[in-house]
Amino acid sequence: MCEKKIHDGLQDVLACKSSICRIEMIDGKAILEYRGYDIHELAQHSTFEEVAYLLLFGELPTKSELEAFSEELKELRELPPQIIGLLTHLSPFSHPMVVLRTAISYLGTMDKHIHHKSHEKSLQKAKSLIAKFPTIVAYFHRIRSGQNLVHPSDELSHAANFLYMLHGVEPTKTEAKAMDLDLVLHADHELNASTFAARIAASTLADIYACVVAATGTLMGPLHGGAAQKVMEMLREIAVPWRAEEYVKMKLERGERIMGFGHRVYRGVVDPRTIELRALAEKLAKEKEPKWFEISRAVEEAVYKYKGLFPNVDFYSASVYANLGIPDDLFINIFAISRISGWTAHIIEQYENNRLIRPRAFYVGEAGRKYVPIDQRGD
Ligand code: ACO
Repeated sequence: MCEKKIHDGLQDVLACKSSICRIEMIDGKAILEYRGYDIHELAQHSTFEEVAYLLLFGELPTKSELEAFSEELKELRELPPQIIGLLTHLSPFSHPMVVLRTAISYLGTMDKHIHHKSHEKSLQKAKSLIAKFPTIVAYFHRIRSGQNLVHPSDELSHAANFLYMLHGVEPTKTEAKAMDLDLVLHADHELNASTFAARIAASTLADIYACVVAATGTLMGPLHGGAAQKVMEMLREIAVPWRAEEYVKMKLERGERIMGFGHRVYRGVVDPRTIELRALAEKLAKEKEPKWFEISRAVEEAVYKYKGLFPNVDFYSASVYANLGIPDDLFINIFAISRISGWTAHIIEQYENNRLIRPRAFYVGEAGRKYVPIDQRGD
């Protein structure tokens, strides 16, 4: 094999065909579409339920299809008692993403048809996972903080119900809308690391729970979905907007990365989701605590000035979540609550047009070494 063929980090490699998410750079501007629909239009007009339907079924739902889909999700929200038991047994100090992936695996043990992969069966499992993710996250949070469980409400949308189960009070219209928009914006993003992990698992024809566990584990890393939690740590450390420039300069001089900046695909262009999230963060800042947004703006300006980098989807998510009263260590879980819709759409697509994903490595170690028996190796 020739070294020229190595693509470190698989940058710019086209690993499969997909009709779920389109990312394209046209005239220095990034286009992001779910199933051919522009992200800005979806952000303005749709809901998470509508987007999840679109990702899974490939078409926007009619009114009655959306109603039926939303009802189905509502019916699937509650957790089996065994899962609630698991959440009470896990250490309250576990990271909620570790808890989420453990609960997904446990759900797999309770599915009698775990290995069935027909289109219908896979869709059913996808809906169940989409419906249950918010409940797992909210229940664990309430259990670890010694509060009573707040069971799902049939009256509330997916986003509003999550905030309700988490906080125990119904969110305001602005809060519910903000949560919903955030879920729309995070729902899919082509072959990001976690989705690719899900597709690799699916390409071995592993069950859907195994694929989602692979994705959930991958999302947690600070270079991927874990960045938003790190962004919040940074905002807290900076504490006041006027310290942002000095902080950024110091970090960059030390050769450290600024979390929430840079992107493998959006190089030198603005991530379209950032535009929406920045506007959302600003709106919430006007109605709630303005500090986090103000520090974020100052960090954005400083990072652009010293490094020429734009924020990614994780950057403004942090101040949005903080203003929705979401604890820092649940930030990655919020990402997962949304991205499960994209993951399952990709898993189903992979099952239905499958070829095992198995790349090669360019070997750089020693070759053809002579084996030395242990008693002849010395100490
Ligand atoms: N802070 C400082 N410099 C950065 C950052 C950053 N966040 N991101 C990239 N750079 C710099 C690199 O140092 C490099 O500079 P150089 O050419 O002067 O050496 C240049 O930008 C290109 O960086 P790469 O390492 O080639 O970028 P890559 O595509 O491998 O990494 C990644 C992308 C992992 C997202 C990176 O930008 C990063 O570490 N960002 C911080 C973590 C983060 O926010 N992750 C969330 C990504 S979005 C998501 O997954 C949902």
